[in-house]
Amino acid sequence: MLMYPIFITDDPSAQVEIPSLPGQCRWGVDRLEEFIGPLVKKGLKSVILFGVPLSCEKDGRGTPADDPNGPVILAIKKLRQLFPSLYIATDVCLCEYTSHGHCGLLHEDGSINSAPSADRIAEVALAYAEAGAHCVAPSDMMDGRIKAIKRKLIDGGFGNRCLLMSYSAKFASGLYGPFRDAAGSAPSFGDRKCYQLPPSAKGLARRAIQRDMAEGADIIMVKPALPYLDILADAAQLAPDHPLAAYQVSGEYAMVVAGARAGVYDLRAMAFETTESIVRAGATLILTYFTPQFLDWLDQ
Ligand code: PBG
Ligand code: ZN
Repeated sequence: MLMYPIFITDDPSAQVEIPSLPGQCRWGVDRLEEFIGPLVKKGLKSVILFGVPLSCEKDGRGTPADDPNGPVILAIKKLRQLFPSLYIATDVCLCEYTSHGHCGLLHEDGSINSAPSADRIAEVALAYAEAGAHCVAPSDMMDGRIKAIKRKLIDGGFGNRCLLMSYSAKFASGLYGPFRDAAGSAPSFGDRKCYQLPPSAKGLARRAIQRDMAEGADIIMVKPALPYLDILADAAQLAPDHPLAAYQVSGEYAMVVAGARAGVYDLRAMAFETTESIVRAGATLILTYFTPQFLDWLDQ
């Protein structure tokens, strides 16, 4: 039930440490065999890919997101070929690829333009499915995107071949900082508060979960995990017949590691405690940067 988030950059031979995400690196496509091979041997079952394009031309519609020679599409193909049993999910968003760093397309006044955003996100999701992704996971939070992606997948012949995991209840959190360092995806102006959920919004989160189920999501996700366990428990009741994912995000991981380094607690004990809490609240799938460590710990 562990899915490992990994960052793929466009320099094929790169292995660059991410200072705010201790122990995690950005990897080039040519390094995936040495990075993922030993983990697959230890039992790694699934990964979720995030693209980190450093040398591309970003624009208003995130054109590099579905570049056939971009890092995500090349990595999907490479991983499918190297590790036939590995389950490959891809994050789908535009913020890593837009000149303004927002997750969708903007009106001239800088506000979100929902309809073309959903269409563009769906186009990118289909390109990842065509490249061989087993699962596409839109994290952009544009209204209507689940329906648009599901339609595109069905029309493209992937309705029963590519799973749609929705970041349904994604909150506008302070815990995404290390990720934005890692992916170079911080917005150049403003914030994401008009498309991600306010931390106090229980009702909106419940409605978003129900809306995404109705629009065709195959997996529902709550993110971040630990400060939102009540939402996770609600999701387990609202979506009893869907797999339920929780994303222990970059800032949660960094916090657990920092506390251990400061002598507040033992790293392994706290990694287990946080993860077990997430399971107790109802998650059946956990996206976590601790995955490689759990592959060792769970065997001991
Ligand atoms: C991109 C995206 C983010 C994360 C996953 N996809 C950052 C954001 O919304 O700003 C966060 C993951 C993490 O912090 O580990 N939309
Ligand atoms: Zn985004």
